[in-house]
Amino acid sequence: MQNKYLKYNLLSMSVILFTACGGSSETDTTSTETTQSSTVSVVISTKEELGESLFSDTSLSLTRTMSCATCHDPLHAFIDTRANGVNGAVSLGDDGSSLGDRNSPMASYASFTPSFDLTNLSGGQFLDGRALDLTEQAKGPFLNPVEMQMPDESSVIDRVRENDSYVATMESLYGETIFDDTDSAYTAIADAIAAFESTAAFSPFDSDFDTNTMSAAAIRGRDLFRSRRVNCVRCHDDRGDNALFTNFTYENLGLPANTNVRSQNGHGLDHGLLDNPDVSAQTEDGKFKVNSLRNVAVTAPYMHNGVFQDLKTVVHFYNTRDTGGINPETGSAWEAAEINRPNIVTNDVGNLGLSDAEEDDIVAFLEALTDAKYKDLIP
Ligand code: HEC
Ligand code: HEC
Repeated sequence: MQNKYLKYNLLSMSVILFTACGGSSETDTTSTETTQSSTVSVVISTKEELGESLFSDTSLSLTRTMSCATCHDPLHAFIDTRANGVNGAVSLGDDGSSLGDRNSPMASYASFTPSFDLTNLSGGQFLDGRALDLTEQAKGPFLNPVEMQMPDESSVIDRVRENDSYVATMESLYGETIFDDTDSAYTAIADAIAAFESTAAFSPFDSDFDTNTMSAAAIRGRDLFRSRRVNCVRCHDDRGDNALFTNFTYENLGLPANTNVRSQNGHGLDHGLLDNPDVSAQTEDGKFKVNSLRNVAVTAPYMHNGVFQDLKTVVHFYNTRDTGGINPETGSAWEAAEINRPNIVTNDVGNLGLSDAEEDDIVAFLEALTDAKYKDLIP
């Protein structure tokens, strides 16, 4: 009965919304609530649509000012583009003052990351793999004190229940008793968000690389990227039609600390994979997940701590870390590694013998990995 009623209601709502909003059903819940007094305020009938609304719903943070989309902007490859006093290196929290410790990664293509594998130390969400998969990941930010600040799972669920259309949709998709159990309801919320993050909107695979429309410079860069001498592909695997440019392993590249962020957030060292509660071997200290390089040209700044602003600096770091190179952003020699351990990778990193023109070609190749809808954002 309830389900039939819901379907009917959603159907009539879609008519109203299509007239009210000029054909767009992609309306965020908060804005429609003000114009619609009806119980159902937005067209939601699939997990993906529910997830889409939850993803950008600011009422799910303590001060009702922050959503997942705040730090993962769909118009900008799902990264955080807000001004924050640290050149975008890390994110401001819902309180407007707390600074996190890590650069907000793009949520694009994250659905292709395999689950965390403790035996091989690969895969997983977050830069230290501490969330098994996308559903587990989505449970984190609501409760993170430097992010959305909600005190516990049931308070997040209460916020979801303020919206009648969420309640109706959750009951229809996950069963009438879904709200009887806190864990089940919280998991359903995360599951819907994960379903949205698994849609083609996050992973269109339509860059110049995918459509075979790369410039001559990008093709030269690709050949260097794949070459024995440079061998980026050892970690940023480019095999297969829908290559993701990562092998999902963890490495310590010997990156400098971001002293600007450190001085403002007062945090200690970031131990990366060793901060994953399931990992305790000291050999993993300072290792971070190999990033996908899709959309990398539009997701500055770079590395887990956002220590580099320009893509060319990243390439120059790989090229000259061990040969007395100069950091073009500071004008000084490369700063010492933040986590200075014997595990700092030296094979294929630190001394590549690239010319300046070859570095530019590699940057051109990285630019060719940009989704069509973000190409205008390439600096
Ligand atoms: C305050 C900014 C902020 C908010 C809000 C936020 N995130 Fe994130 N997100 C980050 C940062 C920073 C990281 C990396 C953190 C780490 O590795 O410890 C991250 C990591 C991720 C990842 C992992 C990507 C990868 O490559 O491992 C996904 C997926 C993600 N967030 C989705 C979400 C979802 C879904 C929400 C809402 C429930 C959300 N985020 C809310 C900043 C934010
Ligand atoms: C030994 C493995 C390895 C090799 C070889 C390697 N990378 Fe990486 N790359 C990584 C890891 C690990 C990270 C993330 C490091 C971190 O944040 O601490 C990364 C990060 C990056 C980033 C920054 C991504 C972002 O969103 O912040 C770029 C760009 C990049 N690599 C390009 C390259 C290029 C170009 C080459 C070849 C010149 C290369 N990499 C070779 C492991 C590798």
